[in-house]
Amino acid sequence: MEIITHITDVINYIHVKKVIGQEIGFVPTMGALHEGHLSLVRASKSKGLLTVASVFVNPAQFGPNEDFHKYPRPIENDIKLLESVDCDVLFLPSVEEMYPETPNIQITMPFLTQKYEAEHRKGHFEGVMLVVSKLFNIISPDFAFFGQKDFQQCAVIKQMVKDLSYPIKIEIIPTVRETDGLAMSSRNRYLSEEERKKAVGIYQTLMYIKNMVQHEKNTKNLLRHAYTFIEKFGFTQIDYIDIVHADTLETLQEAHFENKPVMLITARCGTTRLLDNMYLYEQ
Ligand code: PAF
Repeated sequence: MEIITHITDVINYIHVKKVIGQEIGFVPTMGALHEGHLSLVRASKSKGLLTVASVFVNPAQFGPNEDFHKYPRPIENDIKLLESVDCDVLFLPSVEEMYPETPNIQITMPFLTQKYEAEHRKGHFEGVMLVVSKLFNIISPDFAFFGQKDFQQCAVIKQMVKDLSYPIKIEIIPTVRETDGLAMSSRNRYLSEEERKKAVGIYQTLMYIKNMVQHEKNTKNLLRHAYTFIEKFGFTQIDYIDIVHADTLETLQEAHFENKPVMLITARCGTTRLLDNMYLYEQ
């Protein structure tokens, strides 16, 4: 695997590959890789794409009271994992390389970034859109791969690609789960043994409601059941639970197959925020 740290070098490398007809698959990450990330690399490789992963802990998407400095950076292990799935290129820029000066531009998307993560993490999506658009300009991929676990992020990126006419196909890959159902996340490593046991409550609540939707379509009732069910797991705080349309993220009154209902849950286990989601009907 090639490891490239400078923007001009990766641009030149990819240019040469494109000239000889290679299509590029891109997997942006913040490192601390797990099976979820590797499934994105595998998805790219299985399409026969020259696969570029990036590892960059993006300061612009962390709030002042968030875990930017504490965010895990096990780069040696990440390199081994990327090699194990035959990733072709790792783009590993420094903060100075990506942000030599404070950027003047700001990207906002009022429609999709009013609620949910945006409400709890002020400026988060503006930071995500900034870095993802920079990375798209640098890598100029044909395909980019994101995990469904960050459902709102996926919706925002799909919309950004449409609005800014990026010639990139966005592929959303299903969430990879631990054997008990907990969604894989770099932040799971913060959980104590006791918190790890509670954490599965999010998945169990999603499954409980997914079964219930067969005979109950009213989302107010479904949400009432979800809040009652999740309570017993003893989360420190439930940030939000909602049932939304998969494309618009608008809250639904009724959960029918046709309006593509997705349940979103974010809850805190100790100080760790865990997020997950599930389509209530197989799409
Ligand atoms: O999902 C992530 O890991 C990050 O938000 C991303 C897309 C790599 C941008 O920093």
